Parts: sequence; C-alpha cells; structure tokens
Amino acid sequence: MIKICKTIDEVRKEVKQYRKEGLSVGLVPTMGYLHEGHKSLIDKAVAENDIIIVSDFVNPTQFGPNEDLADYPRDLEKDAMLCDNAKVDILFAPKPEEMYASNGCTFVTVDGLTNELCGKSRPIHFRGVATVVSKLFNIVTPDRAYFGEKDAQQLAVIRRMVKDLNFNIEIIGCPIVREEDGLAKSSRNKYLNEEERLEAIVLHRALVLGKEAVAGGEADASKVKELIVDMINSESLSKIDYVEIVDAETIQPVSIIEGPILCALAVSFGNTRLIDNFSYDNEEK
Ligand code: PAJ
Repeated sequence: MIKICKTIDEVRKEVKQYRKEGLSVGLVPTMGYLHEGHKSLIDKAVAENDIIIVSDFVNPTQFGPNEDLADYPRDLEKDAMLCDNAKVDILFAPKPEEMYASNGCTFVTVDGLTNELCGKSRPIHFRGVATVVSKLFNIVTPDRAYFGEKDAQQLAVIRRMVKDLNFNIEIIGCPIVREEDGLAKSSRNKYLNEEERLEAIVLHRALVLGKEAVAGGEADASKVKELIVDMINSESLSKIDYVEIVDAETIQPVSIIEGPILCALAVSFGNTRLIDNFSYDNEEK
C-alpha cells in the first residue's frame, strides 16, 4: 500500500529505515498530473530498485511570472492511485511552504547548458529545476533517479549538475512516450483545443523528417532546421519559439552535424507551448 508523505521529515524517517534494511531507493521527480510518460519512468524505477519514491510537486521556482503556475493541472488523488497500482512505495507531495522556507536565498545554477533552447525564453526555469531537484536529492538520497528524454535539456542539465556537485546518484534517462498519432505525452496537452490538438501532430512529423535527413547524411544543421521549420509553419496555428540543433552534451548550437546532437523545438499552439526533440549519434548507426 502506498504511503503519502507531506513533510520532509516523514520521507527522511522512511528512507532511514529502508537504508537500515539495506534496500536500494529509486526516485522519480514529477510535477504530478501523471500520465503514461511518467509511468514509464516509474516502471523502470520499479524494475531497478527495491523502494520507489515519486515526488509530486508543482515547483513554483521553475515558472516565470507570466507562465502557467496557477493553472498547472493537479490531481493528487488520481496520481496516488496510478502510483499505488504501479507499486510505488512513497508519494512525496509537499506543499510549497514545506519545500521553500520564506527566507530561502540559495539556488543552484548550471551555466552554459541553460543559455540556449528553453533557457532563452524561460530565463529562470532551469535554476528552479536544478534547485528543486538538488533539494529532492538531499531529502531522498536515492541510489538512482529517473528523468525523461522528453525534456532533453533538463536531463543534460541534471547530469551536469550531478557531475559538478558530486551527487552520488545514478541518473537514468528514459525514452519519450507518445500518443498513437505521435504527439509526445505531456500534462500540458490537456490545454489544447480540438483544432490545436490535431495540428500539434506536425511536431513529431517534422522531427521524423529532420531525423531522416540527418540519418541520410545531411550534415548542414541549417538545412535540417529549415525542413523542420517549413513543415511546422504549414500548420496555421503553430507559432515557433525555436527549432535548434545543439551538441547533445554541452547544449551549444552546431552548424555541422558530426558528433551526438540534440534537435529540439518549442512551438506554441494557441496559449499552449509544447516541446519535443530527437537525438542522433552517428556512432550509433
Ligand atoms: P514533469 O513535467 O512532471 O515531468 C516529470 C518527468 O517525466 C520528467 O523527467 C519528464 O521528462 C518525464 N516525462 C514527461 N513526459 C514524458 C514523456 N512523454 N515521455 C517520457 N518522459 C516524460 O519535468 C518535470 O516535471 C520537472 O521539471 C521536475 C524534474 C519534476 C522538477 O520540478
């Protein structure tokens, strides 16, 4: 039976007991409103650890002033049910006051990797992510933590933070889970109206086109980007924030595609901003 913890002390007490028993702990950080994408991370964690802790916390510090913090969908009861069925041991669902003292003044920033892609239009976003994930790592002290490739820049930032700050935690990346028509699953998909939802399929189609071009030997990043941009612009409701090709590790733009790359995009349909990406590594061909 799943246990819901609302306080840091409760989680620490449980983890201390697990450690005494010599059990391994896997952490899946989430902002809740769980779907099949989150579930794939949980399933992998269940397969690889004795104890599974899922955090369910809409983290205020990663939302900009004009973003959707207040509207972000929440359903703790449904999340608890999904986690219970998936054999999660603890659902950690703190209130913002529990996670952030009112006079907190310490933040974690990861330089360089956060300047491009989503970092450009969401300047404080990754500082909020790195800070809350550091806090979760310190509270839960997991052996392994699971993150989706859906948020590829976030995954790169966390990997770098773990390396730079010597967290003794293995970071596991998990593949993107999609709807049948290709749209990447996201808690924000529920904002889309019928017409926007239909048009949003173009993102995956455009990325497939781009990936095929790269796999076929196109090494000019601007040509690949152009293919993707043109296809997305063919849908009337789409508004591109960025389509970019970057080095997979440093998240710096590349003009010639040689080593492992990340091709990432952010596109709005109406008020809903969606992200998606593909990775490509010549060596893995
Ligand atoms: P959230 O958007 O809830 O996502 C939680 C985790 O689920 C992330 O690692 C994300 O990449 C993964 N995920 C979401 N949709 C996915 C999909 N379609 N396929 C595979 N994985 C998917 O990302 C966050 O929350 C927050 O920034 C967080 C890391 C919890 C820090 O607050």
